[in-house]
Amino acid sequence: MAESCSDHLVITLDGPAGVGKTTLARRLAAELHLAYLDSGAMFRAIALRLGEGSWEWPAERIAERLSGMGFSVTGEGADTVMAVDGKPLGDEIRNERVGLMASNLATLPVVRDFLKKAQQDIGRVCRLVAEGRDMGTVVFPDAPCKFFLDATPDERARRRQLQLKEQGEDVDFDTLLVQIKVRDAQDRNRAVAPLRPAEDAVIVDTTKLSIEGVFLELVKHARTSCMK
Ligand code: DC
Repeated sequence: MAESCSDHLVITLDGPAGVGKTTLARRLAAELHLAYLDSGAMFRAIALRLGEGSWEWPAERIAERLSGMGFSVTGEGADTVMAVDGKPLGDEIRNERVGLMASNLATLPVVRDFLKKAQQDIGRVCRLVAEGRDMGTVVFPDAPCKFFLDATPDERARRRQLQLKEQGEDVDFDTLLVQIKVRDAQDRNRAVAPLRPAEDAVIVDTTKLSIEGVFLELVKHARTSCMK
């Protein structure tokens, strides 16, 4: 493991699926010259490695399969690269099937404990914008700067549809809305580390705001409150 750094800083950015966290976390990290920790990508990488139905395995079998898995983060901002066992993660984790598998595995303490340690190890290394569901509540409870982004399910489904369209995929709005609601229910209601704002988080309802507006708000707050 790398040495911890003297000017250590973690900014957390949590919120539900489709709220725009990834875009904002990457931009915030680039603007502030911090690395970007995509914790959802770690759950997705595990989902891809363990496969369909693995969330029903006994905890010992899951632990055994996870034990050799090493995560690392290099670079900063949008150029941050996350690797598993030295191999950079690619677009193979970026689809709704893997997202839902990740959400299923994320209900299990054995998976969460394993990733919490991996995330804290990465956080010790240096300066980070950490994005996910429980970054401010569980993984980095002492972070000096915490944000929680939210938006209505309809607005998030609309944004996701637009994003997919830009990637050349036409997906029906109602299908996306159902997917978002299923993941919301699972992420918010699970027994371990449910999605919720930390008590000291700045909550931003982005429903009626542009990405640019939210970005400027986050930068302003981060610069004035936690980058002294
Ligand atoms: O942010 P994402 O859509 O890539 O995350 C995929 C799933 O992983 C999400 O539905 C729930 C889980 N997750 C989690 O439980 N805790 C995190 N910190 C990040 C993701």
